[in-house]
Amino acid sequence: MSQNKTANQLKVLGIAGSPRCDGNTDHLLRQVMAGASSSGVETKTVILSELNIAPCHHCDGCIKTGKCVVDDDMQWLHTDIRETEHIVLASPIFFMGVTAQTKAMIDRCQALWVIKYVLKLPVAINPNKERSGVFISVGGSKLRNLFEPAKATVKSWFTTLDIKYASELVFSGVEESGSIRLHPTALKDAFAIGQKLAAGNMPR
Ligand SMILES: Cc1cc2nc3c(=O)[nH]c(=O)nc-3n(C[C@H](O)[C@H](O)[C@H](O)COP(=O)(O)O)c2cc1C
Repeated sequence: MSQNKTANQLKVLGIAGSPRCDGNTDHLLRQVMAGASSSGVETKTVILSELNIAPCHHCDGCIKTGKCVVDDDMQWLHTDIRETEHIVLASPIFFMGVTAQTKAMIDRCQALWVIKYVLKLPVAINPNKERSGVFISVGGSKLRNLFEPAKATVKSWFTTLDIKYASELVFSGVEESGSIRLHPTALKDAFAIGQKLAAGNMPR
């Protein structure tokens, strides 16, 4: 996955939250991002397990400024999250929630929560554009309500970022690495979601 970015306006930011390279959510995210970039828009994918992102210390160092005092990769990722028009978050289910990598990144957005709710400033760099988000997930079991706890976390994060929870692509009963490729429609569905996202055709 590319981590390059040009000077153009970032349209779709993909965030890979699985620690397993080439796993199921990686395959789905790649297709969503391929669908988005096939429309010619600027995209960027970040792989959380390759980044240095400490958990939130709850030091309240951000409370007066909205700037996190922890100096790691979250500093530039905050900027990408505020700049992008759309976010695609991919995380498998780990013990009924998102992965530790994903949760650490989400918790570090407490600084953006401060910007919105304490400083009462816009979180998005361009607050006039409606932003939307997509959640991608897979879990090995077929439990009813398997995705609900993770969805609650992701929805709460999107709300803080002023991002509408526009769509999701979730698959239960998918355990082995890469086995999502055997699903009859998953990768095609993922590509189509990327195309719709880039074209601004997500449900409002
Ligand atoms: C630490 C850990 C916890 C897991 N917890 C769950 C779980 O609570 N429910 C579930 O259905 N699958 C669970 N799984 C299985 C993964 O969700 C499944 O293997 C998934 O396909 C991994 O996606 P990935 O290939 O994108 O990493 C867990 C796997 C690991 C390693």
